[in-house]
Amino acid sequence: MSASHISQGTVFLQSTNFIDAAYIVAFSLLIYGMTGLTGPRTAVRGNKIAAVGMAVAVVATLLRQHEFSGSGTVWLILLGVVIGTAIGVPAALKVRMTAMPQMVAIFNGVGGGAVALIAWVEFRHGFVPTTHPLAPGGYPLRVEIFELFGAIVGSVSFWGSNIAFGKLQEILPGKPIKLPGQSLINLALLTVAVASAVILCAGSHSQALFILGILVAAAVLGNMVVLPIGGADMPVVISLLNACTGLSAAATGLALGNPVMIVAGMIVGASGTILTNQMATAMNRTVPSIIAGGFGGAVAAPVGGAGTEGGTVRSTSAQDVAIQLSYARLVVIAPGYGMAVAQAQHAVRELERALEAKGVEVKYAIHPVAGRMPGHMNVLLAEADVPYDLLREMDDINPEFPRTDVTLVIGANDVTNPAANTDPGSPIYGMPILEVDKSAAVVVLKRSMASGFAGIDNPLFYDPKTSLLFGDAKASVTEITAEVQAL
Ligand code: TAP
Repeated sequence: MSASHISQGTVFLQSTNFIDAAYIVAFSLLIYGMTGLTGPRTAVRGNKIAAVGMAVAVVATLLRQHEFSGSGTVWLILLGVVIGTAIGVPAALKVRMTAMPQMVAIFNGVGGGAVALIAWVEFRHGFVPTTHPLAPGGYPLRVEIFELFGAIVGSVSFWGSNIAFGKLQEILPGKPIKLPGQSLINLALLTVAVASAVILCAGSHSQALFILGILVAAAVLGNMVVLPIGGADMPVVISLLNACTGLSAAATGLALGNPVMIVAGMIVGASGTILTNQMATAMNRTVPSIIAGGFGGAVAAPVGGAGTEGGTVRSTSAQDVAIQLSYARLVVIAPGYGMAVAQAQHAVRELERALEAKGVEVKYAIHPVAGRMPGHMNVLLAEADVPYDLLREMDDINPEFPRTDVTLVIGANDVTNPAANTDPGSPIYGMPILEVDKSAAVVVLKRSMASGFAGIDNPLFYDPKTSLLFGDAKASVTEITAEVQAL
């Protein structure tokens, strides 16, 4: 191949048409990959397809960058890719499933921070003050508005996500931290950020001062908004901040004329908003009430023995549970956060097999907010090869509880709390729950009488038809399975 062929090829690869086509391929793959995330069977493949889409987008951006600024900045971008890969891949491989919300928080925060930095750098590049009030800089006004929107929202998202990470990782206290007049302080910070943006767009010559004003006000606002929210609501907050990062990326994409940033940002913004609403609905809360904060402080410490209601609890043994389960016709397993902590999903699958071998019908009851992230239980049970058709969503399983002989509650608490239906004074009153108390008998596996994430007592434990098997869920399930097999 001659030198002129090579140079023609290079010119073609860097042509705007080729780069635009690569961007279209990239976001088509992203969207197609995401359709795979609707079910556990197709999720891994969907994720891989989306990752290929992201790789195509990165390559297209490198070619575009090369076209605009030569190879100097391309090497800088490649260095960033290498550093990001070296940190991100081992972290993602090592993370425990129960720590996934923290991981999402930190990755989301980094995305928001990157958007804020891009907006800042781009604004400085394009800013050539003129006296015309509607076209004060080198960029048109609409471009500046998108950039400054990205800077404010991206910065709020970065700092807010850091606080969310700190609370979930227990580096910061989980309980709400609120200043007197918090709402007024937040309003003042938002006003400073927006006013600085308006002054910049109006053609101020003190751009460094006002850009700094925007970034500092938005940073403090991000901290202030998330600190008063209790640890129990953090997954919802992370989902909301995720939506904000998406919107800020889309706005910056509009400013830069980058189609992948626009499409990916809008997908993240829209899906994050839908997910936030769904999580809030499943907890019978509103998004504004969650942002207002104050609900669900630190996880209550184990109190052991008698419950705070003063009722008596009946403890049982693995042998008794095995007998109860083996002679049942229908057993429903209701898993929760404790199953995730104990990593008991494989042991649970073994128990299900042992019961099925004895002719017992087994189903799984899945609450939409069981665990600490959306789809937490589905992911764990899919990992243990539990057949998908045995999983029943809350609305489908609730009518089946009255004909269920035994419900085995494995590390679930709040999502089974009957106070949500019966006690108007309960903080979770109105939250849809798994109505396990309607089954003929209930066995709860947990380590102590500690409360769940909402920090409240559960009357289910004092119900005469409930018995509790205390201990780590994995050890208890393994013991029950051995007893079932020995019968
Ligand atoms: P929780 O109510 O948090 O209860 C989990 C229970 O598991 C605890 O009572 C704990 O009791 C037990 N446990 C912990 N480790 C265990 C182990 N190794 N072995 C056995 N038991 C163990 O969980 P849930 O019922 O799944 O409810 C989820 C909560 O998180 C709800 O309040 C929900 O609103 C909230 N939330 C969820 C989401 C999503 S998207 N999933 C988002 C935001 C908030 P012991 O300590 O006594 O063992």
